[in-house]
Amino acid sequence: MEKITSPSIFIGQEGNGIISFGSGQPDMPPPEEVYKILPEYRAFKYGLIQGQENLREALSEQYHNATADSFIITNGASEALDLSLRALYEPGGKILLPKPYYYSYPFNVKFAHMIPEYYDLVEGKIDYENLEEKIISEKQNTKGYRAIVINSPGNPTGSVQDLDVLQKIEKLTHDNGVYVISDEVYKDLIYGRENYLIKGDHVLTLNSFSKTYAMCGFRIGYVYARQKLLIDKIIGIKTHTSMNTNILGQEMAHEATTVPKEFIENQRKIWEERRDMIYDGLKKLDLDLWKPEGAFYVFPKMKNPNKVVNDLYYKYNTIVYDGAWFGDPKRVRFSYALDISKIEEGLKRLAKYLNNEYKHN
Ligand SMILES: Cc1ncc(COP(=O)(O)O)c(C=O)c1O
Repeated sequence: MEKITSPSIFIGQEGNGIISFGSGQPDMPPPEEVYKILPEYRAFKYGLIQGQENLREALSEQYHNATADSFIITNGASEALDLSLRALYEPGGKILLPKPYYYSYPFNVKFAHMIPEYYDLVEGKIDYENLEEKIISEKQNTKGYRAIVINSPGNPTGSVQDLDVLQKIEKLTHDNGVYVISDEVYKDLIYGRENYLIKGDHVLTLNSFSKTYAMCGFRIGYVYARQKLLIDKIIGIKTHTSMNTNILGQEMAHEATTVPKEFIENQRKIWEERRDMIYDGLKKLDLDLWKPEGAFYVFPKMKNPNKVVNDLYYKYNTIVYDGAWFGDPKRVRFSYALDISKIEEGLKRLAKYLNNEYKHN
């Protein structure tokens, strides 16, 4: 049996009785409205590199004082991240990433020929004093960090950063000439309060239709940036790489922007119910974890996570992700993007594993 050392073997796996706590994509379908245009849709030519105007217009209405010119439609937030980093490139540029992190971040920074450095999250939360000290001392000793990535609600932590911390970071980065890449793909999946969106001319906001509208496979995301120079740079790179983002997907995303807000509200209730169920279930199994306030992940501490991943997969037909893939080798990530009955079954399998062999690890 091949030892599992990366999540790639799990992506897209389902069926055969597998319970997957692995996947980072919603299991529920998108709003029906997104399919409405399909029967009549006939466009096929290249689209604008920057993205369809109707979609950019609709997005600009979601942000204070924004115009359609400040948006670029991308192949998911993934391309938005890649293009943003490459647009920010400077020789020897350092990018400050949260740790634990969404697993693509360090790769994206390296692909952009820059250097990833990290700020530690404490039980999922930003330690503001520590971050401030890092940013200021880097500025005193070198030319300073080129950018910081903020991801709230976060993957894999499920943590939502405190409002005053996000506001302080907004000011700290502005005052010290550090760009903010604000990855807000989970901004609508938050239980308890509204999210705070970091603002300013030094901010690149990334988002997509993958999580809020369950449209991962259509690959529609965007960058919102108020600096025209950055927008032009990103369009310049995209012109010579992926060119326009899929035009049919963009029309479908445009339909999604017209869907009543209740869609998001209803989804959120389902996520919250699942969050409560898995959190309570893992607590009952005596695992050490914090209660996530957003996204759809829990991140308990476990002994020997890589063995847990391999044992659960090969012996209990259950997928979980090794925390090391996210920069925390002491934890295991469980996604709760699966229905309640499957969460229940998965918790039973986990309980069996914990009783049968985990203690003897
Ligand atoms: C934090 C974070 N950012 C970005 C992405 C990429 O999302 P997409 O490219 O589907 O928009 C993901 C996907 O899981 C994510 O968790």
